[in-house]
Amino acid sequence: MISVIVPTYNEAENIRELVERLHKALGSNYEVVIVDDNSLDGTVEVAKSLAKKYPVKVVTRKNRLGLSSAVAEGAKWASGDVVVVMDADLQHPPELVPKLAEIAERGCLAVASRYVKGGGVRGWSLYRRIVSKGAVFLARLLLPEARAVRDPVSGFFAYSRECLAQIKPTGLYKILLDVLVQCKPRCVVEVPYIFGLRTRGRSKLGTRHMLDYLRQLLRLSKWRPLKFAAVGASGVFVAWAVLYLLSPLPPYLSVAAAIETSLTSNYLLNRLWTFAERKTPALIGWLRYHVATAAGNATNYITTLALNILGVWVYIAYLIGVIAGYAVNYILSELTVFMT
Ligand code: GDD
Ligand code: MN
Repeated sequence: MISVIVPTYNEAENIRELVERLHKALGSNYEVVIVDDNSLDGTVEVAKSLAKKYPVKVVTRKNRLGLSSAVAEGAKWASGDVVVVMDADLQHPPELVPKLAEIAERGCLAVASRYVKGGGVRGWSLYRRIVSKGAVFLARLLLPEARAVRDPVSGFFAYSRECLAQIKPTGLYKILLDVLVQCKPRCVVEVPYIFGLRTRGRSKLGTRHMLDYLRQLLRLSKWRPLKFAAVGASGVFVAWAVLYLLSPLPPYLSVAAAIETSLTSNYLLNRLWTFAERKTPALIGWLRYHVATAAGNATNYITTLALNILGVWVYIAYLIGVIAGYAVNYILSELTVFMT
């Protein structure tokens, strides 16, 4: 038995065609669980009338709690061992559902993917493409669990009901990220599809949801970017102390010593705190941290000395140097030193 979970908000114009096409694709031994958040356009009435002819369950909620929580709710009402999650607006082709379900029945997470060979999007502006690729890049950068997937923000996927029913959504929309991090599927299979154009009704996602997405990434990454920044800030105080103690020495030496000392204290704090759950060998990690932060430290060293020569007080010059090296360091640490 396959349960197709469909979150809806004002999709009255779409769900009839959706259910008809699902019925054609799945035949029997399936159900559709529609989870509606108090739509104003009569979605529930249409869903209830469909339920007379097709195996449709209608779950209604009083408040608009978001797509992710609607899906988690739907999983609690579903009776299949395998659930397929999809949008109501036909941008996800119902004809792909049997294939996704089959993969999930074998125990793997099945993801309908825009970003594997044969997949894509139709009619998107350059801006939307860039935003989408940026979202995917950030997810894969910050969440090791997302690196196995080319399209970790897909809203069209299949997996066990058991996993979905116990998910605690960390954001409003991207429940696949929660599945990846909270359930840690042992295998993922991506199936290409073309994300179609919405022909009826309106999209519910807007620019204001970007902030929600970033918050979700921070939560799922256990606030690593912020911890890393806090450690970096502590390193500035360590470096200032070294600069102060070594102030009789010429800056090209004292700045180098300040960088090396703070590098080591930063590494230790990141190992014990920011990336505590990753089993990084201490000494090898320390050496890798040198390699990973080399570009940032070189930037810092050159910037500090140059500003100092221009007459900037060495402590302030150092602070500016650190900021210049920070972004480079973070990205390289994620991708090399603390990689699992
Ligand atoms: N119950 C409920 N509550 N459903 C909602 C809510 C809500 O607050 N907000 C949106 N939905 C439903 C919509 O009715 C639709 O069925 C589905 O969630 C997706 O909403 P859209 O507004 O059509 O989203 P989109 O097209 O911009 O983005 C979709 O595609 C992305 C790319 O695959 C979403 O499915 C994303 O999750 C997906 O990543
Ligand atoms: Mn849509």
